[in-house]
Amino acid sequence: MNPQVQSDLESKFRALYGRAPTVVARAPGRVEVLGNHTDYNEGYVLSAAIDLGTCFAVAPREDGVARVTAGDVMRTVETSAAAPEKQPGESWSDYVLGCLAGLNARFGAPDRGFDAMFLGDIPLGSGLSSSAALECGAILALAKVRGVELPPLDVARMGQKAENEWAGVKCGLLDQASSVFGRENHLVMSDFRTCEFKPVAFPDDVLFLVCNTHARHALVDGAYNERRECCERAARFFAAALDHPVRALRDVSWNEWLAHRDDMDELAAKRSAHPIGEDERVLSGVELLRDGDVESFGRLMFESHESSREYFENSCPELDVVVEEASKVPGVFGARLSGGGFGGSAVALVRRRDAETAAAAISSAYARKCGSPCEVRALLCSDGARVVFP
Ligand code: GLA
Repeated sequence: MNPQVQSDLESKFRALYGRAPTVVARAPGRVEVLGNHTDYNEGYVLSAAIDLGTCFAVAPREDGVARVTAGDVMRTVETSAAAPEKQPGESWSDYVLGCLAGLNARFGAPDRGFDAMFLGDIPLGSGLSSSAALECGAILALAKVRGVELPPLDVARMGQKAENEWAGVKCGLLDQASSVFGRENHLVMSDFRTCEFKPVAFPDDVLFLVCNTHARHALVDGAYNERRECCERAARFFAAALDHPVRALRDVSWNEWLAHRDDMDELAAKRSAHPIGEDERVLSGVELLRDGDVESFGRLMFESHESSREYFENSCPELDVVVEEASKVPGVFGARLSGGGFGGSAVALVRRRDAETAAAAISSAYARKCGSPCEVRALLCSDGARVVFP
């Protein structure tokens, strides 16, 4: 993350609140490389924390007031630190106040309030999880100011709960877990049943490109929640139809899906094909990376995108253009949408020596078809969220 963000935040903080922050935390965004919509189905994902993120600064107050400022637009909300309330018209504050509510539920109401401000460099609507970065940064900084500590998994879960209950998105744990468990130069292999998060190295001669389309289609949150309900309906069907326990789609194999798809409601059958196929792709993908077989790994990425398009219908024309154009570029092994879908970013696997020309080729082909270039940058896998000051 650009170090300038932290220094800008500290000077804006001093200018507004008239004193320096006593704690600053930093949390990265994430990119999802393989395993789409598998997290809330208790499945597997390969992801990475990225070198863009959010910094969160705090200083305690003597009274019980909590003031939170979004440093980019300099809007401030004010509420009670012990009993934060939703702020009408300031939906950005839900992510922070939801985390404050989580800390209060766990550690009790605080004796004192605080002044806080945050600033980041994740482009809005890029699908790179600026909200998870904000949540994880807020939790770490606010916990530190109170003198309490949380294990990383609990930080991730508290951020997810804030997003589920305050922001109304029934997201899984992927974004927050990637922000917390990220490791420099590594992907993270997550198992969302056992909640194990392991670093995975990838071959030196390849890198991932992150292509931000800047597209964001309406009703994204509603579509996300609808997809999740479909998956849960399908899991209930398989639990009754199969002769082994099914708690989530993670327990259903592709062959079982093939055998039963005509017996269940059409939409649930179609949607559930995606996470079921993705789980199998992630498990093979990890093996392929270990063996250095980047060509086969790339093919899995293309298959993943096709499955999004066909079964989950969470792609959009802009993401399809990136993936299609990337597939024509020499040195590109695979590409797919990343994250929730319906806009945001795609990720491509490319031979390192071809990365620069591939990035330029993808961006200009995108511009020809969509009117303006997409923003393509090399993924620098980063360490997870942490307190950086003091
Ligand atoms: C969004 C959600 C995650 C995950 C992905 C899709 O990023 O926040 O929990 O479901 O979509 O894999």
